[in-house]
Amino acid sequence: MSTAIRFENVSKTFATTRGRTLTALDDVSLTVDAGDIYGIVGYSGAGKSTLLRTVNALERPTSGRVFVGDQEVSTLGGAALSRARQRIGMIFQQFNLLRSRTVYKNIAYPLRLAGLSESATLDRVEELLAFVGLSEKALHYPSQLSGGQKQRVGIARALANRPDVLISDEATSALDPQTTAEVLELLGRIHAEYGITILVVTHEMDVIREVCNKVAVMQDGRVVEHGTVYDLFAHPQHPTSQRFVASVLHHLPSADTIRRIRAVHTGRLVQLHVENRESNDPFLSRISRAHDVDVNVVYGGVDELQARLFGSLTVELLGTDENVDRAIADLRAAAVVAEWEGAR
Ligand SMILES: Nc1ncnc2c1ncn2[C@@H]1O[C@H](COP(=O)(O)OP(=O)(O)O)[C@@H](O)[C@H]1O
Ligand SMILES: [Mg+2]
Repeated sequence: MSTAIRFENVSKTFATTRGRTLTALDDVSLTVDAGDIYGIVGYSGAGKSTLLRTVNALERPTSGRVFVGDQEVSTLGGAALSRARQRIGMIFQQFNLLRSRTVYKNIAYPLRLAGLSESATLDRVEELLAFVGLSEKALHYPSQLSGGQKQRVGIARALANRPDVLISDEATSALDPQTTAEVLELLGRIHAEYGITILVVTHEMDVIREVCNKVAVMQDGRVVEHGTVYDLFAHPQHPTSQRFVASVLHHLPSADTIRRIRAVHTGRLVQLHVENRESNDPFLSRISRAHDVDVNVVYGGVDELQARLFGSLTVELLGTDENVDRAIADLRAAAVVAEWEGAR
């Protein structure tokens, strides 16, 4: 697997107006493999945008190095930097379109900069417009477009020179949920059809979940945790990761909810963790029948994550103490009970 982007001990400080220094990036090392859709998530001020902007040298690290493919971009300048930037497409939260130019001209702009002929530019822009579904809008101005359409123009422009890498800074943060879903679907299609490596910066864990295969969590300029999306969602280690995961997965009842459930349900409460299950063994009804125990689902849900099932169900087991004990032992043996919530 080849490396698409590598951050090597990247730090960045800014001088503030009061003569202090602010550490925006603090020794960040991260490797993005070719073909990844790599997400960087964190709260506002975590350093996500600063990190992303080092990829095309809009920011220069104070120390450390940034590579795109084999090339160290953090030291490039002049024509070499311009050429490197043509290999890196960027999309923005506020779209950054040229307001006085038509959709066509916005997309044609980087092609003309790259020296493409007028007729080759025409062909390429038509192809891009078709790909993002805006063939009818070529002669419209940005002000005549919806937010989602503007972002699709931004994406077409970013793809114009067939980059190896696409970097996205909060590309869906100004969009409503429906439009966000459409833009994320488009990113997925770009990845599938062109095999482009995509680096996605967002403060929304839903975005990570929808499109990314890997994720890094940033806080105070540092990467506090990184890994596959499945592992991070299933077993977040750092408190910040746990908070982000809890913001989108609602399988586990909070302490308050457990208290309310307890007030109503007097049987034994058990939490079943559904994870990596590939067999279609109907374990719950099998075990319930074997031990003459009734099962009452009181909380939770099972979702798909990276095409694998993941979730948790809180169930109440009703039966004699001995039977419930036996059922719990079997559930543990079936490796689906990671923990259980005490007796009545
Ligand atoms: N050009 C700049 N000058 C001074 N401080 C900056 C500059 N850019 C970013 N910062 C500061 O660096 C920190 C990280 O910012 P940023 O990378 O934009 O975070 P995020 O994108 O995660 O919200 C913040 O404290 C921000 O105020
Ligand atoms: Mg930002």
